[in-house]
Amino acid sequence: MSLTQFDKKSQAWSALFSEPMSDLVKRYTSSVFFDKRLWQADIAGSLAHAAMLSAQGIISAQDLASIERGMAQITTEIETDAFEWQLDLEDVHLNIEARLTHLIGDAGKRLHTGRSRNDQVATDVRLWLRSEIDLISALLIDLQKSLLDVANKHVDVILPGFTHLQVAQPVSFGHHMLAYVEMFSRDAERMAEVRSRVNRLPLGAAALAGTSYPLDRERVASALGMVNALGQPQVCQNSLDAVSDRDFAIEFTAAASLCMVHISRMSEELILWMSQNFGFIKIADRFTTGSSIMPQKKNPDVPELARGKTGRVVGHLMGLITLMKGQPLAYNKDNQEDKEPLFDTVDTLKDTLRIFSEMIGGQLSPATGQKEGGITVNAQAMEQAALRGYATATDLADYLVKKGLPFRDAHETVAHAVKAAISHQVDLSELPLVVLQGFNPSIEKDVFDCLSLRGSLNARDVLGGTAPKQVRAQITRHHARLA
Ligand code: ARG
Repeated sequence: MSLTQFDKKSQAWSALFSEPMSDLVKRYTSSVFFDKRLWQADIAGSLAHAAMLSAQGIISAQDLASIERGMAQITTEIETDAFEWQLDLEDVHLNIEARLTHLIGDAGKRLHTGRSRNDQVATDVRLWLRSEIDLISALLIDLQKSLLDVANKHVDVILPGFTHLQVAQPVSFGHHMLAYVEMFSRDAERMAEVRSRVNRLPLGAAALAGTSYPLDRERVASALGMVNALGQPQVCQNSLDAVSDRDFAIEFTAAASLCMVHISRMSEELILWMSQNFGFIKIADRFTTGSSIMPQKKNPDVPELARGKTGRVVGHLMGLITLMKGQPLAYNKDNQEDKEPLFDTVDTLKDTLRIFSEMIGGQLSPATGQKEGGITVNAQAMEQAALRGYATATDLADYLVKKGLPFRDAHETVAHAVKAAISHQVDLSELPLVVLQGFNPSIEKDVFDCLSLRGSLNARDVLGGTAPKQVRAQITRHHARLA
């Protein structure tokens, strides 16, 4: 069949069909205008399949050489935008195969031996997603490094830690940043685990039941780098499952959603911190916008959008998981709907990670070799806020416990002291010793060590605590981990 015939009939299976598809149905069913971004994976998969067919004696070495030559030309055409994508040819697979056949004749038609678009598309999506996961993993490392830089510079800066958004206890700003490093390190772990399940080969499952040709699936898996940590080929072991399940895309989107949720929590804090009421930080002007009516405003558009885009990615997770739920085995066309949510999840996550690394940690300045333009911290405003909120009340209670009071009684005693401090509009540390002794006679002069913010921080010298010594140890650990 020549390309013209192929085109006219506009279907690869046309002999059976007595009427052409309407334009509306063509538009409805075709995916080429979004799945063409799988083209590299599609060609890589086809080349590995063809090499194996030839090694197994299913196609000739000459056919293989023609396929390789044709695919090289198609690669150039796509790269230079000379390739003509055709809606009539439905999807990326049929577009490339039709062009191949046009270029090299019958050898192009032999490429599809022992293969179906069902195992082909599952392979393409997995290959594409694998390389995107690798990019995302690198971006997650960049973001962690940015946060680590900020943490390192601000170990001794104290801000109020909150619970219920009420001032709770003083914490190191470095410690606060490291909380996000932990979250993103788990996101990276999750991505690595998802990758190991994405990186398995469906090809050879054919339409659904396997194939009667003597394929060497493990050879194809190895050629495509679908191997485990030991270098052993990873092949989907059940043909029905191989062509039909998209759980790998769902779990990727779940991991991406969690990562966006972490970004969203951080965004919420950045937005609060840069409001006039907190005044804790500034982000560089290039991440903010002004208001068309209120000249004094600088709006935190980037963190706000990231918070909004989190909803979008979580929506994609809902879309994908719902897409799967009612499908009988094996392949159903429903699965064509996996692509747009998956692509958009990847695009959104990558852009967000990139922009956050830069917004937090700044950009490398060629002049100084240092990163510049990250967030600016107003240490004084943070400390003032911690002092305003009786953040060391727990420390006074702990002090009384060390003097022999049961904790519950100490808690009650301190509540009275805080009430007195509030009515005099002073901090606990500003109450005179005699006043404090009025609440409990065992209080001595050394109480003021623990009522200071720094005393409170230093006291929390437990693994994972906010004492600067512990925070520095964590920074060292993270540096070694990310080196
Ligand atoms: N474009 C299709 C998809 O994305 C490729 C597989 C089509 N298979 C089929 N039997 N119609 O899922």
